[in-house]
Parts: sequence; structure tokens; C-alpha cells
Amino acid sequence: MKTMWSPGKLWNKCRINMAAHRSRGAGFFRTLLSRCRTPGPGLCQQQHRCCLSSVPAPPTPPPGTWSHQLSRLSHRDLYRLSLTDPDRFWGSAAADRLRWVKPFERVRDCELSSGKISWFLGGKLNVSVNCLDVHVEKHPERVALIWERDEPGTEVKVTYRELLETTCRLANTLKSHGIQKGDRVAIYMPVSPLAVAAMLACARIGAVHTVVFAGFSSEALAGRIQDAQCKAVLTCNQGVRGGRLVHLKATVDAAVKTCPSVQHVFVSQRTEQPAVMGERDVSLEEVMSHHASVCPPEPLDSEDFLFLLYTSGSTGKPKGIVHTQAGYLLYTSLTHQYVFDYRDGDVFGCMADVGWITGHSYVVYGPLCNGATTVLFESTPVYPDPGRYWETVERLRITQFYGAPTALRLLLKYDESWVKKYDRSSLRTLGSVGEPINHEAWHWFHSVVGDGRCPLVDTWWQTETGGVCIAPRPAEEGAPIVPAMAMRPFFGIQPVLMGEEGEALSGDSVSGALCISQPWPGMARSIYGDHQRFIDAYFKPFPGHYFTGDGAYRSEDGYYQITGRMDDVINVSGHRLGTAEIEDALDEHPAVPETAVIGIPHDIKGEVPFAFVVLKEDVGDAPPVILQQLRDLVTTKIAKYAVPEHFLVVKRLPKTRSGKIMRRILRKVVMETTGDLGDVSTLDDPSVVKEIIEAHELYRKEKKK
Ligand code: WT7
Repeated sequence: MKTMWSPGKLWNKCRINMAAHRSRGAGFFRTLLSRCRTPGPGLCQQQHRCCLSSVPAPPTPPPGTWSHQLSRLSHRDLYRLSLTDPDRFWGSAAADRLRWVKPFERVRDCELSSGKISWFLGGKLNVSVNCLDVHVEKHPERVALIWERDEPGTEVKVTYRELLETTCRLANTLKSHGIQKGDRVAIYMPVSPLAVAAMLACARIGAVHTVVFAGFSSEALAGRIQDAQCKAVLTCNQGVRGGRLVHLKATVDAAVKTCPSVQHVFVSQRTEQPAVMGERDVSLEEVMSHHASVCPPEPLDSEDFLFLLYTSGSTGKPKGIVHTQAGYLLYTSLTHQYVFDYRDGDVFGCMADVGWITGHSYVVYGPLCNGATTVLFESTPVYPDPGRYWETVERLRITQFYGAPTALRLLLKYDESWVKKYDRSSLRTLGSVGEPINHEAWHWFHSVVGDGRCPLVDTWWQTETGGVCIAPRPAEEGAPIVPAMAMRPFFGIQPVLMGEEGEALSGDSVSGALCISQPWPGMARSIYGDHQRFIDAYFKPFPGHYFTGDGAYRSEDGYYQITGRMDDVINVSGHRLGTAEIEDALDEHPAVPETAVIGIPHDIKGEVPFAFVVLKEDVGDAPPVILQQLRDLVTTKIAKYAVPEHFLVVKRLPKTRSGKIMRRILRKVVMETTGDLGDVSTLDDPSVVKEIIEAHELYRKEKKK
């Protein structure tokens, strides 16, 4: 398929020679909190002074600075310090690692019980300067992005200089269309250099971006645009994924019909198919070409909003999680470096889409702040065949591979030769994120993909935490990694497990509600337009602590294992979904008075939604017709991945006397553990249980046929 994204200009033929990267004599912590922005001194094969063909010696922090003092501490002492003296720890990190327009006056002002979280008060900076200009000054021709396009072997490299220029043109375009500091801009684009430039262009002028995953339906997109009152939308005519076209512009057209706040829709041409342009539409490439490639950065307060990212909670309405400038950037850059052992010259391969927090923190902000070469993966793990990831690793010489357990579970079903036939010797660290990784997937990833020689980090975090909070690394040199366990809190993270009475559980070998009891710079600041919901969801359940919504187990060695969500949020292929969102979509059907959705285990997707549906007695259509209509409803209201895998028609749902649906019972019926129903004394009519068990039996038999 031909594409129109002027690759000619973006092409940079430099092949990155990574051969020398595997030796590093310096201790793991030697450079802690020192800048990682030394230019690579070597020349690439084309004799361009751009690629990093040798490892520079870790820079020695100047004597007397805090970084210098820190470089002498062990990991244990550093971790302790990050908790006992966060002002010193984070203050020095922020001063050393970020470029400030105006230095901050106070490191933090936080009170978790009231949801007040401020870091680096009084400071001014610009995130795009930290992600672009500081690197362009030192190594303009270093590759910032490798866009691994859907069609293998057609990757496009974008240097830091080119990315800065594109970002500035885009920033000037937004400004000339009336977008100002504080305005919200929706980005509905697939992973691409222009999507990254769009995020950074917003950051440059102080606009607040909200990236909406390009798999969401028009109604889901509209809901987010309306909630954020976006002034503009950036999109593409079409997307290309797994060889298939996705009609993005058409989805945006449908969405903005109900979005009066949107003044302009900027449309980029990803394919040759011309988009039908309406009154509000602006051709992005055309208008950008008229704008200057220089744009003065807006100095922003540390706590000005950087972006909103919508995520599911336990009610039907997604939450616009707010992240701000300095704390988020510092936290993503520090975690990117230390969790993945990122070193100058690495090619960082995070497979996530920019529509999720993983894409924000570890495709865009963390790696770019560290001056890394970051991979933008547009395709799927099985296109054109199940060797795609590993062929990409070989071709791009990827050093860190960060992926989702669901993809690994899918791939391990194929023959090992799909992995083994590609050279994976460039890999140094493997990472997993988004959902619990099972032992089988962990061992396959570690031994088949990594040949047993790369540390594999299971990283636990959330949209709300901004960056990785619990992961096996960093740790003392040579510290063990326990398979399928997130294990160790990152600097500044103090996990605490809470019991049923709200008491902090002491000691090891205990399970409880996972909370974090000290603020950290990367944490979310609010829910857009509803700060009270922010307080209620995260700080009310265990006053004075941030409640994650997850349960966890602390092993006898003091390591953390995440056991799963404790609320009505499920995780489908690493994507978070509120069961209430699906129920709200189903309940729109006129023949459906009531539904209940639960998550059940699935061997590839992790979890899938299972819907219990009550139909009106006098429904006109046959149930199979209605069920298809229900599937369509979820697809148009949310997204395809949210469509329940199972529908079970029942006469009624198990409810308490006060009318609350007892999902616990539904879960037990599906999991066939009804021998242990627990306390059913609050059930309004216990005979409903038998009814549902029978309906489920019948359903199972039908399925088996
Ligand atoms: C939820 C957050 C973090 C970026 C991607 C997902 C689950 C995440 C792990 C892990 C077990 C995990 C949790 C969490 N989760 N990572 N390593 N082990 N569970 O971000 O969409 O905000 O979802 O994903 O349940 O609360 P998200």
C-alpha cells in the first residue's frame, strides 16, 4: 500500500550500529540523577555524526553537587532517602535532569487526604524543550523516532532536528487557528511521528492534549471531546493496521456532529484516499507547510496541565485523568532510565499505542526526555506473520522490548521458530505491562525471546500513577528477579497493604488493598472537571493514602505481587474497561431492561466481559437478533474490544433487598464455584441462584455443540 506521509523528507538512511553497546563497566547507580544527554561521539556507517555507535562513558557529576553525593549511595540507601527526604531526592533530580526557564522554589506541597498534590512550585519550564531542543543542541541528527509502519521493512526515521521542526510547524498551525494556552485538543491518530509531533506541539504552546485511542467509536470519542470541551481535533484520513484500513476521518465526522466546542478538525493524509473535507476541516500537511519551523516555547508552571487521558472507572463515565508538566516528565524520564536500564544509544521499543498511558510515558515523554531513539509500532504482533515483533527487533536492533502479556500469550501458541529465526542479540531488557503476566508467558518471553540472558521486568503501574511504580528493577547489582512478580517499589513509592477494616497490614505473607502512602511527582493531579470524584475514588477509601483499586500480596521476602482489580473494572487484552460502561451501552436497547457484566478469565486476552441480559417479555425480535443488536450497540458506543464474549439471557438478576446486583454470585456461577456462595442472607430471593445456574448449564451445553 502506498502512503502519502512524505517519507522522502523524513527518511534518514543511517543504520544504527549498536555493536558496542553491550559493555558497560560502570556500576548501575554511578550515574544516578546525572543527566543522560551526552552526545554519542561515534560515526555511523554513512559517516553521519548522528547515530550512537559507541557508548559514551557515564558523565561524572561535578563534585559537590547533590548528584555527586548520590552517586556514592547504594540502591537501598537511595530508596530509603527517597522516602525519608523526598525534598532532597526529588528536588535534586528535578534540578539536575530538567531544563528550567525559572527554577522552582519549593519541591512539594501535598496533602493526600484532600487530594492536594503540587510539585516543583514556582518553577517554569516547557516539556517540548526538554524533549527536543536540549537534544537538538547537542546532537540534531540523532534519530528520535523510528516509525515502524504496518508494512515490514518500510520504517521511517525521524531525527531530533526534524521532530523539532515538525512540532514547531504544527504548534504554529494550532496557534494560527486560535488555539491558546490551556485549550484542550483531541488527538485521534494512530501511532505515527505526526501523532507525537501533535502531542509535543500542544506541550510547546501550553495547550492540553487528550489522545483518544484510534480504536474507540465515534460516540466514545464524542463523549471525551465533550467532557474536555476540546477546541480542535487532529486526525488522519485513514489508519492502516494489520493490512486493513481504518476510517478515522469518518469516525471523527460522526463524533464532532455532537461537539459544538470543536472549531477545527485537522486532517493528515496517511493514505492516498482523499478525505471528504467539510467546513471545519483543515488539511494538516498543506497548512503546516506554510508555517515556520521555529516556534518559541511557552514557559509553563510546573503544575499547568500537560494532558488529559480518559480511563475507565467503576461508573459508566470515563475519568479524564489530569497530568501536569514537571513532575510527570521527571518521573517518566527517571523510570524510563532506571527500570529498563536505558543507556545512551539504545533503541527503545515500547509496542504500546500512543492512545494509552504506556504510549504517553514510554513511547513519547520518558524516552524523548532522555534523548532516546524510540520505536513507534504501527502494526500488530501477527502481521504479516507471528514473527513480526522479532523481525522488527532484528531489523531495528531494538535494545529494550516492552510489551503486553496478551500479545505474548498469543505468540507463544506458535512454533518457537517464529522467534528463533531472527537475531535478538541486540535485546538487553525485556518488559511487560498492563495486566498480570502468567508464568507460562513470563518463561516463554524470558527464555525463548530473551535466550535467558535479559532481565525481564514485570512493571506495575496505572494511568493515574504516570509511570512505573513497582518493578524488579532498579535494585542492588545482581539482585534476583522472581518470575511473574512486580516485586520492588521504585524510588519514592511506599506501598502499603490495607486490611478489610482499613488497617495497614504489617509483616510479610499478607494480602490486601494496594495503596501508596506518600505522594510522588508522577501521580495524577485530578479528574478533569470533577476534583471531588478524584478525592472520592482515590483518597477516601483509605484516608491519607492513594488507593490503586488493585489488590496485592506481599511475599515472605517482602516482594509485591499484584492480584487484580478489587473494583468493577476489568482488563481486556491490557485495556481497562468498566463493566458499568458496557452495561450502560447494553441498557440502551429498548428490549433490555437490565444487564450485569462481569469479567471472566480468558487464556489470551486475560479477561473478557460476560453479559447477563434480562429481556422484556414481549420482545418483538428473536433473542439471537437482539444479541447481535447488543453487540453492535457496544461497538458503536465504546469499541469493538469491549463487546462481551458471552451473553446469557436470564429471567432476573440476583439482587439484595436494597436492589443492588450481587455480581459475586454471577461470578461464582460462571466459574462453577457455587459450592461456596458465601453470605447470601442479603439476597432478596435466593431461588434466583438456582435459576441462573440452570440457564448457565444450558448455555454451556449449547456452546459445546
Ligand atoms: C491497571 C491499570 C500501566 C499501563 C497500562 C495499563 C493492571 C497494569 C500490571 C502488572 C498486574 C497490572 C492493574 C492496574 N496492571 N500493570 N504489571 N501486573 N496488573 O494502564 O489502563 O491505567 O490500567 O492495569 O489492574 O490497576 P491502565
